[in-house]
Amino acid sequence: MTRSLVEFIASSKRLVVLTGAGCSTESGIPDYRSPGGAWARHKPIYYGEFVRSEEIRRFYWARSFRGWPRFAAARPNAAHRALAELESRGLVHFLITQNVDDLHHEAGSRKVVQLHGRNRAVVCLDCRSEFGRAAIQQRLAELNPEVMPGADLPHSDFAPDGDAAVDRDVVRRFRVAACDRCGGMLKPAVVFFGESVPAPTVAVAMQRLDEADALLVAGSSLTVWSGFRFVKRAAARQIPIAILNIGPTRGDTLAAMKIEAPCGETLRRAVEALPEPPRPTPPVPESRQFARVEPSPEAPDRAAHRPEVR
Ligand SMILES: NC(=O)c1ccc[n+]([C@@H]2O[C@H](COP(=O)([O-])OP(=O)(O)OC[C@H]3O[C@@H](n4cnc5c(N)ncnc54)[C@H](O)[C@@H]3O)[C@@H](O)[C@H]2O)c1
Ligand SMILES: [Zn+2]
Repeated sequence: MTRSLVEFIASSKRLVVLTGAGCSTESGIPDYRSPGGAWARHKPIYYGEFVRSEEIRRFYWARSFRGWPRFAAARPNAAHRALAELESRGLVHFLITQNVDDLHHEAGSRKVVQLHGRNRAVVCLDCRSEFGRAAIQQRLAELNPEVMPGADLPHSDFAPDGDAAVDRDVVRRFRVAACDRCGGMLKPAVVFFGESVPAPTVAVAMQRLDEADALLVAGSSLTVWSGFRFVKRAAARQIPIAILNIGPTRGDTLAAMKIEAPCGETLRRAVEALPEPPRPTPPVPESRQFARVEPSPEAPDRAAHRPEVR
């Protein structure tokens, strides 16, 4: 298996990699659709309900407050490191991730787009000011001195969006922080379910994919359209697709190669088995070195009912 993956990587000149939550499970952040995964127990909050309901915002922030220490403590695993190593050897043209955890960037990948934004930032929906999530955690702690964030959270209470189970009573009494510049509504700088991925973000990722000669998917069920669309495009362009994922994916019938194995160990071995010496890294214009595109100011929910939303 690893050998065919090595050949797939080595024979490509402009490989694009698409990653999902399965790439970060080995860092301790759960996904939705692993066997017995979180989807059955806890559904994500949709953008429309978040902005419309004060009660839902209390529910969201109470859960997020409890889950944050554990999410913040997650570190890159062997899969993130292997993909960063491939980029440094000139073997990855671009990386598109559905994850919001910044772990690819932390591992050293620079040619990355985080399609769904960043959980480590918070944005004001009224004045568009952006804040670090750690600072908001501090404010939530001051507003809710009686609530403990879950430093010793059991894994079973921890959910894919970095949030965690809380008692109904805690939700009822939870005080949500407002923007300290305008008093507006704060939301993590992630694209919620029911919210569109900003068009410029999709355009950057699609452009890189259109330059690619192969696509590797790692750790995604491809259930979410905003990731699956890249597999559809690669198939339409007839470039080879390899999928590394435990369990079925929506792209399996489109793939030339499917590997059912853990991302970390498999990618680490593949990198070790690659022929030496590495190819020189082709020069990349400065403006393209890190193409993370943050949600645009007009991102929110106008398209919440369109079929292409998350
Ligand atoms: N880390 C994060 O930032 C994070 C975590 C959870 C969910 N999300 C969000 O939720 C959405 C979920 O979609 P998705 O397709 O990324 O996730 P998903 O939950 O739909 O699919 C993840 C897939 O990875 C597989 N998997 C789990 N661990 C694996 C491993 N170690 N090696 C190989 N395969 C493994 C699972 O069986 C599953 O098929 C995303 O769009 C994302 O925005 C983000
Ligand atoms: Zn504001």
